[in-house]
Amino acid sequence: MSNESEKAPVGIIGGTGLTTLAGLEITGETECTTPWGSPSAPLVEGQLGNQKVVFLSRHGNPHRIPPHQVNYRANLRALYDAGVRTVIGVNAVGGIHREMGPAHVVIPDQIIDYTWGRPSTFFEGDLEETTHIDFTWPYDADARATLVAAAKGRSVPFSDFGVYAATQGPRLETAAEIRKLERDGCDLVGMTGMPEAVLAAELGMRYVCLALVVNWAAGKSDHIITMEEIEEAIEQGMSGVKSILEASMAD
Ligand code: HPA
Repeated sequence: MSNESEKAPVGIIGGTGLTTLAGLEITGETECTTPWGSPSAPLVEGQLGNQKVVFLSRHGNPHRIPPHQVNYRANLRALYDAGVRTVIGVNAVGGIHREMGPAHVVIPDQIIDYTWGRPSTFFEGDLEETTHIDFTWPYDADARATLVAAAKGRSVPFSDFGVYAATQGPRLETAAEIRKLERDGCDLVGMTGMPEAVLAAELGMRYVCLALVVNWAAGKSDHIITMEEIEEAIEQGMSGVKSILEASMAD
């Protein structure tokens, strides 16, 4: 994973199924706070391969904060303050595209934001000027290329495209909602992709999403979505995600 400076740590935000990162040689843990409040969990500093890493569990550790109540601003700001300039967001998602079934890894290239009511900008309050950041390409091209090369290098089956639909949750979608998302051009659906990506962009950080499909989206299979199915897909697919993370840190 490339960095501005050799020493800058890469941030990894772990989601459902990735509250801790085995393989991370832990060198420290920092409880911190930001002008936006406290992040979901202490920042775990460590070494993964040749790269300094700061790991943050998005939903807390143990997993307790639902997607709509994550303090995304505090999470991104805490990573920024720790010197992180490249962030890998690991997200569990539902698969809509026919090639994106359970346990499949996706490195998406676009997002549509369907969330509402979440604080989703740093630019508010008593400002000196109005800022509208460019968000044409929500995921950093170089960071995506690094993950793609890592997935190929480790022979992990994956898709290197996909439009991520960020929904509000915490409930899953109806079948009709998924059909609508599909008509909109969405390939996968999750609850945490936004505002995380835009907040990283507002701070000038490189951001990339590494998604693991943990279920067929509502109405895309002949059964309803169960926790057992989700846990099984995490069990099956998370080793691929970890392998890609490790390989991406190798140079
Ligand atoms: N929908 C929304 N978010 C999700 C899903 C889903 O089907 N699976 C995992 N996160």
